[in-house]
Amino acid sequence: MSLQQKALVLPQKQGNFELSSRSIPSPGVGQLLIKIRSAALNPVDYKIKHTEVVAIQYPAVLGTDIAGIVEELGEGIENFRKGDRVVAHGKFTNDFTAFQQYTLTAASFTAKIPASESFDSAATVPVGLDTALVGLYGKHYGAGITPPWTESASGHESKKPIVILGGSSSVGSYTIQLARLSGFYPIITTASPSNEELVKGYGATHFFDRSLSGKQLLAAISEVTDEPIKLVYDAISLPETQSVGWELLADNGTLVLTLYAKVKENEGKGRKIVQAFGNPHAPENEELCRNSWARLEKWLSDGTIQPNKYEVLPNGLEGIIGGLERLRLGQVSGRKLVAHPQETQ
Ligand SMILES: NC(=O)c1ccc[n+]([C@@H]2O[C@H](COP(=O)([O-])OP(=O)(O)OC[C@H]3O[C@@H](n4cnc5c(N)ncnc54)[C@H](OP(=O)(O)O)[C@@H]3O)[C@@H](O)[C@H]2O)c1
Repeated sequence: MSLQQKALVLPQKQGNFELSSRSIPSPGVGQLLIKIRSAALNPVDYKIKHTEVVAIQYPAVLGTDIAGIVEELGEGIENFRKGDRVVAHGKFTNDFTAFQQYTLTAASFTAKIPASESFDSAATVPVGLDTALVGLYGKHYGAGITPPWTESASGHESKKPIVILGGSSSVGSYTIQLARLSGFYPIITTASPSNEELVKGYGATHFFDRSLSGKQLLAAISEVTDEPIKLVYDAISLPETQSVGWELLADNGTLVLTLYAKVKENEGKGRKIVQAFGNPHAPENEELCRNSWARLEKWLSDGTIQPNKYEVLPNGLEGIIGGLERLRLGQVSGRKLVAHPQETQ
């Protein structure tokens, strides 16, 4: 194997991406070296380029949604073999990111891809699913609901409504699927009308147009359920969706956000705001995410979790540059963009 690889590098704060070469790292204890076949793009990747929302070291390699083939095993790895097809959640440390041809992954946040899924479809899962998962079940960065795999959770949330704003987004789509697994009913979501079938396919029971105001949505939801809305997951978390979510939320309810709060927790009604942080490597999330990653292969093979629709970008790593720009401009609807690092010229 060559010791060098191609990588898409952001040389400095708010700089321009460049194709570059960097050495292929060696796996340490509990780590795997992966030859990346598919890398999915996330909004945070363009946000880092434009506003540096996450503190990182430059030159930086971005991307945290990884699917590929195990090339080398670090010490202490028992559940994986060289040649396994795997999916993994990276982190913003250059040897562990997606926009390059090889990366290291933590075995705890790596899972085998079942034969029914491609590298492309699997790459759409890690960031979206972990953010949905932590936002619902995280005690620190989430609503603290009992995870569906614990015995005490069986039927726990049944007949409780949940509203998920932005059901066609990646985070929203996985939140719908976990809400179904947890037994929430009804599962009410918003998206553009062109994505109604998509979100119902993920398990939403009721769909409403994302352009409805808070008042209109509240009226529409009152036709669906008499139960108070105690949980709203706002996958989009723009100021306008946050206000809608806040307006829908009943006393003592929880609003889960994916971005910083713009609405203020007000007194008297006991309503709470939590901000999801979908990074499984964060100490507060580690145990929860180890548990879900141990189940991911089965969830994908039995259809409990359906990956997102995707579009493959042309030109290997270089295609990521245009893809991130489309994400920034809000030109991607109901799908993930995926790049093939091995096709880089
Ligand atoms: N805190 C964390 O750890 C974390 C992790 C991951 C993501 N995030 C953040 O979460 C947000 C979503 O990320 P993502 O990857 O899921 O995004 P995405 O898949 O790229 O989102 C695209 C979707 O957003 C929907 N959308 C846009 N504006 C909407 C609105 N006003 N109402 C309802 N839907 C709307 C669009 O729906 P239609 O096309 O149907 O209109 C489109 O399908 C981003 O801001 C991201 O940075 C945070």
